[in-house]
Amino acid sequence: MTLNLDPRQRAMLAEMGVRVWLPDAPAPEESTPAHVPAAAHAQATTLAKPIDRALPTAAQALEPVMTQLKAVQGVSDMDWQTLQTSVAQCHACGLCQTRKNTVFGTAASDVTQPTPVDWMVVGEVPGAAEDAQAQPFVGEAGQLLDNMLRACGLSRKPENGQGSVFITQVLKCSTPGNRNPNPEELAQCVPYLHRQIELLQPKMIVVMGRFAANALLQASVPDVQTLPLGKLRGQVHRFNQVPVVVTYHPAYVMRNLPEKAKVWADLCLAMAHLSAT
Ligand code: URA
Repeated sequence: MTLNLDPRQRAMLAEMGVRVWLPDAPAPEESTPAHVPAAAHAQATTLAKPIDRALPTAAQALEPVMTQLKAVQGVSDMDWQTLQTSVAQCHACGLCQTRKNTVFGTAASDVTQPTPVDWMVVGEVPGAAEDAQAQPFVGEAGQLLDNMLRACGLSRKPENGQGSVFITQVLKCSTPGNRNPNPEELAQCVPYLHRQIELLQPKMIVVMGRFAANALLQASVPDVQTLPLGKLRGQVHRFNQVPVVVTYHPAYVMRNLPEKAKVWADLCLAMAHLSAT
């Protein structure tokens, strides 16, 4: 994956109101491009340094959530198809009573074997539209996400050399009134996400939002629950061996349009990290 954006991609970003850190500009440490806010630029350029932390084993990473509730059994041994079936039939928490559908992840229903993906994007909770269509990020926030991913050369349905991205979220069921998930719901659902990661082996995970960051960084960032999201950005974390970049949730960005540049800086961090490894 390179950072080379063609004129169409640049135009697309301009259309979205995203200012681009151009790959053919001078090296970031040499100068700050005038079109990138200094703070976002500084964050983007500190990226490429992975944090030197002791990497947790899969069991250690799962421990904080698995010790809270144990209703979903055997998830860590499931194959892809069993995992999909288990999510589709899940009754581990009360959300099964209000959902129409479960939302496993992009294009999951016709895939029996997991194909390793380039990127995985982890959102938080499916909304009403996602619940109705059983697909993640189908609303306005999803369009913004798709456009940004396309500008990174990624697609839910890759063609013509695009990289692949699997999009999912921490909770596989919507919540009544789109409320925040509660700890029990998260504890039941997070093991599904962890198993998806183990089976898909993404080269990069982008987590969008507070609950997504908590779900993957509990083992490697012990104070993740209390750190502001802004403090988790601008670094490459790890979930087991997989690099993780934290950014804001697209729905939040839709309400705070100036934050788009930060999300773009975070995606640039992810691309730069992959280019360097
Ligand atoms: N927010 C998410 O985190 N995921 C979706 O699928 C939709 C909105």
